[in-house]
Amino acid sequence: MNVSFRSTYDFLAPSRISFGWGRRREAGSLARSLGHRAFLIHGSEALERLGIVEEIAESLRKEGIETVRLGTIDHEPLVEDVDRMSALLRESGGTPGDFLLALGGGSAIDLAKASAAMATNRRSLTVKDYLEGVGSGLQVEADPLPLLAMPTTAGTGSEATKNAVISSRRPPFKKSIRSDRMVPRAVIVDPELSVSVPPEVTAATGMDAITQLVESYISLRASPIPQAIALQGLALAAPSIVRAYRSGSDRDAREKMSHAALLSGLALANSGLGMAHGVAAALGIHANVPHGLACAVMLPVALRVNLEVREAEIGLLGEVLCGRRFGSSAEGATAALEKVEELCAAVGIPRRLRDLGVRREQLPAIVESSRGSSMSGNPRQLSDAELGAILESML
Ligand SMILES: [Fe+2]
Repeated sequence: MNVSFRSTYDFLAPSRISFGWGRRREAGSLARSLGHRAFLIHGSEALERLGIVEEIAESLRKEGIETVRLGTIDHEPLVEDVDRMSALLRESGGTPGDFLLALGGGSAIDLAKASAAMATNRRSLTVKDYLEGVGSGLQVEADPLPLLAMPTTAGTGSEATKNAVISSRRPPFKKSIRSDRMVPRAVIVDPELSVSVPPEVTAATGMDAITQLVESYISLRASPIPQAIALQGLALAAPSIVRAYRSGSDRDAREKMSHAALLSGLALANSGLGMAHGVAAALGIHANVPHGLACAVMLPVALRVNLEVREAEIGLLGEVLCGRRFGSSAEGATAALEKVEELCAAVGIPRRLRDLGVRREQLPAIVESSRGSSMSGNPRQLSDAELGAILESML
């Protein structure tokens, strides 16, 4: 198959990635090179209740690393969350030997990434000034505090990316602070941490990872290393997501989904995304739809929209997703679409926007808020009228 190849590229990734079942217990030895005082931001309080926070603090203590609990987060981070965390860090941290430890899903990791950057970039006290599209154009010029990211869900891939997505309710927006300097220094992916994630979160985060692998593969900015990575991620995720959804303690499925999610982060950080992520941001702003769920609902539509301009690529994705060869790109592309729809149905993803609480009168604002970095990578350029009509047909 004649897929595209970009002959000039850069590739950014964390300096060290440690992957494996139970490896959270090595946090202390793996963090030694980062410093001697860890500022911890973590997600759901279940991590506390299950003793995971204490287990990691103990592993750090054994290596002489002090843990300072900075805060927790149970929602996608808002401007005020970052401003509060970075104010705390500026007051009590930022001396040599300090680093951040993010333990949780994409929300905790994004909050930590933005706070680590704001702790050392002090030209404004609010992260809003650093956000793409809505800020005052400030850039991350100083290296953030070092960050160790430990994802507990298999989805966003934020542990491997160079941006943090930050929202605001008034005015409503969802934008990124982004810099090559913001890629976490070290990552520990322990798939065992995802065992307690409930089925509906497993479904949404897993479909987010699959959407990231697909969209980065066909993106206008698609680059060769991420494209190679995406194929392995999809080959592992396609047969695993339903098993992880149905049986949370299935070790093999959890390992493959955690690995696929990590790969999706490496891929999107270097290739960009597309219309599913563009619209997902807008659905988050205007209808409060969780990120992964919004991506999952939009993925089949994004494939259909881009089919004509990326038939060879989507045809190859069809072979990888289905694990077999097809006679032509067209056949493979149709199989890709059918497979994605089958996976969405099997993990309980709704098909219609109204199932997510979206109302017709919200569509113009959703179209307007869909424009951003993700949408600019979509292979087929869509006018506002075209995008509006697509969303209307999905109501
Ligand atoms: Fe995503």
